[in-house]
Amino acid sequence: MLTQHPVRDKEPVPRGSAGAILRAPIRHAFINGVPKLSQSFYPPQRTLMGPGPSDVSPRVLGALGRPTIGHLDPLFVELMDDIKGLLQYAFQTDNELTLPISAPGSAGMEACFVNLLSPGDTVIVCINGVFGGRMRENVERCGAKAVVVEDAWGTPADPEKIAAALEAHPEASALAFVHAETSTGTRSDAERICALGREHDVLVIMDTVTSLGGIELKVDAWGADAVYSGSQKCLSCVPGLSPVTFSPRAVERIRSRSHKVQSWFLDMQLVMGYWGGDSKRSYHHTAPVNALYALHESLVMLRDEGLEAAIARHARNHRALVAGLEAMGLKMVVDAEWRLPQLNAVGIPEGVDDARLRARLLRDFDLEIGAGLGALAGNTWRIGLMGYASRERNVVFCLNALEAALKQEGYGVDSGSALEAAEACWSDAA
Ligand SMILES: Cc1ncc(COP(=O)(O)O)c(C=O)c1O
Repeated sequence: MLTQHPVRDKEPVPRGSAGAILRAPIRHAFINGVPKLSQSFYPPQRTLMGPGPSDVSPRVLGALGRPTIGHLDPLFVELMDDIKGLLQYAFQTDNELTLPISAPGSAGMEACFVNLLSPGDTVIVCINGVFGGRMRENVERCGAKAVVVEDAWGTPADPEKIAAALEAHPEASALAFVHAETSTGTRSDAERICALGREHDVLVIMDTVTSLGGIELKVDAWGADAVYSGSQKCLSCVPGLSPVTFSPRAVERIRSRSHKVQSWFLDMQLVMGYWGGDSKRSYHHTAPVNALYALHESLVMLRDEGLEAAIARHARNHRALVAGLEAMGLKMVVDAEWRLPQLNAVGIPEGVDDARLRARLLRDFDLEIGAGLGALAGNTWRIGLMGYASRERNVVFCLNALEAALKQEGYGVDSGSALEAAEACWSDAA
């Protein structure tokens, strides 16, 4: 029998204290000891144009609802092989060890570090935003030493500084950087950074959570060794999976480890037994079967559209969005050469309240855009055009909604000027 929770139902909630903030939702969430939300949950239909998750294609959502089958069912094993092949296409690699980790992008990041590093190793880590900082955290948690190459937020990782760090640290065994820094909307020159890694014979670890499927990414041609991504950005899929790929050099490093990887779940030697190329698949964990249907569908969509066409679509819609934003008098934060088409960092005009405007967009338009993080918090918005969300419809919708919300904030905008500028861009490109 369900009993009433003593704290929820009897304890007075102190007003105006942190306790009130923590306890009040719990009180509201229970009626006679039964959770109030214990009915079907119907989320609103939002348009997701923040830093991710981004809009999921209806085709992908449809795949998610197909009948669950066993994760060692021969048909499912075939699907796993197909996912591997499609991921190889997306990453542009022949790496045999290419698969989706059954957890979000952060787990892909951790998988790369825990498998390739040992205590006492030295790693060059580029930090120009939040996610480079997380890489350093991973390196240090592996008992390795991070040599940090720091660049200002909103600027790319500087290859000259990376070269100098590699010269100064010949003992380094790896170089880690973020291809597309989601916290600032900045691309780094991955091809050049990977080439530096090759010249200095270190393993290159690359974060492609926001780049995969949205901008050029050539794992083999560039010579990256351990690359991880996420399902929820330019792949138009639901969150919760992390595609990864490891080069033969990286696999060699993993096989020659002298001691066990500290994480059992992310130990790639064990994961390989489950996702490996031979027909004998040994149980490691229960794969998220339906989420993998969804990933498969999103990769089929990418293959059907073609990588080049998908990248061109992201670039085209980005140009139209920027033209519209600039026509409203807004300023982009990142220099044009390094801007990510899939994540647009825009300065918030003087006098406009960041949180109030975003809340207005969500309430009146069901539109989510992202806030700035860290150094960019309060002065920057991050507008995503990722995967299925990178569509003309979304650009038009976002510009119109933003124009209306800015007007309500008292910021003067010429009606329709943003849309006109965006449309001019599309007709130029046609
Ligand atoms: C560049 C980058 N790296 C890593 C992550 C972590 O991915 P997840 O949130 O799926 O764990 C994110 C998430 O936004 C990201 O943008």
